[in-house]
Amino acid sequence: MKALILSGGKGTRLRPLTYTGAKQLVPVANKPILWYGIEALVKAKITDIGIIISPETGAEIQEKTGDGSNFGANITYILQDSPDGLAHAVKIAQPFLGNSPFVMYLGDNLIADDLSEYLDEFILKNLDALILLRKVSNPSAFGVATVNEKGEVLALVEKPQNPPSNLALVGIYFFSPEIHNSIEILKPSARGELEITDAIQNLLENKKLVSARELKNWWLDTGKKDDLLEANRIILDTNLTSENLGIIQGSTQIIGRVKIGKKTKIINSTIRGPVIIGDNCYLENCFIGPYSSIADNAKLTDTDLEHSVILESAQVLGIQQRIVDSVIGQRAKINLVLKRPKALSFMIGDDSHIELT
Ligand code: DAU
Repeated sequence: MKALILSGGKGTRLRPLTYTGAKQLVPVANKPILWYGIEALVKAKITDIGIIISPETGAEIQEKTGDGSNFGANITYILQDSPDGLAHAVKIAQPFLGNSPFVMYLGDNLIADDLSEYLDEFILKNLDALILLRKVSNPSAFGVATVNEKGEVLALVEKPQNPPSNLALVGIYFFSPEIHNSIEILKPSARGELEITDAIQNLLENKKLVSARELKNWWLDTGKKDDLLEANRIILDTNLTSENLGIIQGSTQIIGRVKIGKKTKIINSTIRGPVIIGDNCYLENCFIGPYSSIADNAKLTDTDLEHSVILESAQVLGIQQRIVDSVIGQRAKINLVLKRPKALSFMIGDDSHIELT
């Protein structure tokens, strides 16, 4: 059994973060989303992993993630020249996949369920495809399945305007090598991509064995800001254990589950967990409220923050009003020089979002 993680694509929905970085490397609780997928695969004993990368962000993914030895895996990187669809990614990965069955894992998806149970079913029933489904309130944003009362898959359609059900395709699929024949005959969809949903529909039409299971626990497609904040909240809620490797000074109070990295200095601040703060950060006169993740080398002074994600080397200085539900990109700097500024001066990139509420 092999795995193929898709970490190419354009990442338009997380812009502006993804202008400069890969969306799969955006951290959830200070760990890249992609790494959760790798760990889930290794936990299910799948260690031969191919990762699809794009020319724009591939080098960064490769450099940060390495050859897999940190995860107990063996990673092969596969370059996809342009984001021509999920099925296109499988097509170019054929030399790596060979005749092996495989799990296809979208690099921006996070699930709580263990993969082993689904993997066992896929192998035991000798399926050609096992897909995972989850009820959603906005099925038009996903691939959607029609399933009969016995749970058999009748049809699949990608991002339909009038969804036939509320069962969305989760971005984790189990395939036999039969999928390659299905992809071979695919035509690009209306949005110009080779869709994996169409390839599975081909399997159905050719009476191949396709089965579906509904996920038991949460699933997040972290492609958008609110999903990212929600993933951050859930992971901090369920996975975080307290640890303090930093330097705590003055009247600082640490309440609840808080993890603080090496060489991080916290002066006269209150941290109310669950909160994770990376290495080499500097915090002075701050209140950091629940569900916040602060990445390495960040600097925060005179700032009040909660339910937010601060990326590496960002600086938030002198913001007295509470910052909530925010994502602040790498190396971004917000600096309130005067207590009551007479004027605001900005240098803000395309697609940035600022809400003064
Ligand atoms: O998240 C689940 C959904 O994922 C499914 O319900 C849909 O049926 C499926 O098509 C997919 O839809 P998305 O619009 O969310 O796919 P997205 O373009 O975000 O790509 C998913 C991942 O695959 C992401 O990590 C980028 C990567 N990718 C994408 C394309 C189009 C590639 O590596 N190569 C590509 O050509």
